[in-house]
Amino acid sequence: MTQRKIIIDTDPGQDDAVAILLALAAPDLEVLGLTAVAGNVPLELTQTNARKVCDLAGRPDIPVFAGCDRPLAHPLVTAEHVHGKTGLDGPDLPAPITPLQDAHAVDFLIETLRTEPPGTVTLCPIGPLTNIATAFRRAPDIVDRVQEIVLMGGAYFEVGNITPAAEFNIYVDPEAAEIVFNAGVPLVVMPLDVTHKALTTPAHIAGFRQMGTPVGAAVAAWTVFFERFDKEKYGQEGAPLHDPCTIAWLLAPELFSGRHINVEIEVHSPLTRGMTVADWWRVTDRPANAHFVGNVDADGYFALLTRHIATL
Ligand code: BDR
Ligand code: CA
Repeated sequence: MTQRKIIIDTDPGQDDAVAILLALAAPDLEVLGLTAVAGNVPLELTQTNARKVCDLAGRPDIPVFAGCDRPLAHPLVTAEHVHGKTGLDGPDLPAPITPLQDAHAVDFLIETLRTEPPGTVTLCPIGPLTNIATAFRRAPDIVDRVQEIVLMGGAYFEVGNITPAAEFNIYVDPEAAEIVFNAGVPLVVMPLDVTHKALTTPAHIAGFRQMGTPVGAAVAAWTVFFERFDKEKYGQEGAPLHDPCTIAWLLAPELFSGRHINVEIEVHSPLTRGMTVADWWRVTDRPANAHFVGNVDADGYFALLTRHIATL
């Protein structure tokens, strides 16, 4: 079996952590590395959290790199109100053993894409797009070598979660998002439109807990912590588990449906900065640049998650 090579660019984040675990559990995927970026919490915490997740999965061999500590053009906006002070509040996890690599995440991205055969490395960004955009700006020769980008970010019908118009990952660094969306790389986007259909339920959480493993217990505790914010905000029974949708797409794309359309990033308007302007109804001539996902089979998604997480 040929494994698909991926790099996860991440700002853990409880849902990032579940995405990383899903990827590490999947025999079809080879995780070349984790590149941490500032987002949900500052970089020092996101890189530490990424290493804690590798420890938990029993994979201290996964190379973890620290990347950009702030967005390209504006001050960092964080989301402790959602993810807690550490970004990974919930279970008590010890200080990580998985080492932090010396190289900068952007150098790792550039080096890996230059070394691996063209078209064989997929990028999975599940935080602000600062690392990826910086790598593309610094080394334009790598852009054509990327197999695909599968990212979590944006919203259209669901509108914003950090402002009325913008989703968090894109809002934090719209200038970076603009670079990535216009790079010409095959792009799959998991916006809030789909992740808000991937809601946790008490049964899903019980399923994680009943695994009787440290990983199952941690995922249950993260989910319980993470869902309180959205449950209260949206008045629903559960909360969206956003970031693992990217990895689930790689493993079972038939669970999802969407449209190949044009998506532009608003970078100027103070009112709608970070908005993903998705031409869902194809009312412009702007060329399609993204597969924008709108729907998921939520039962299938959680079954896939549970099946994989149970193996760790
Ligand atoms: C995204 O923002 C972060 O808070 C989550 O980890 C996810 O990547 C959802 O808007
Ligand atoms: Ca994230």
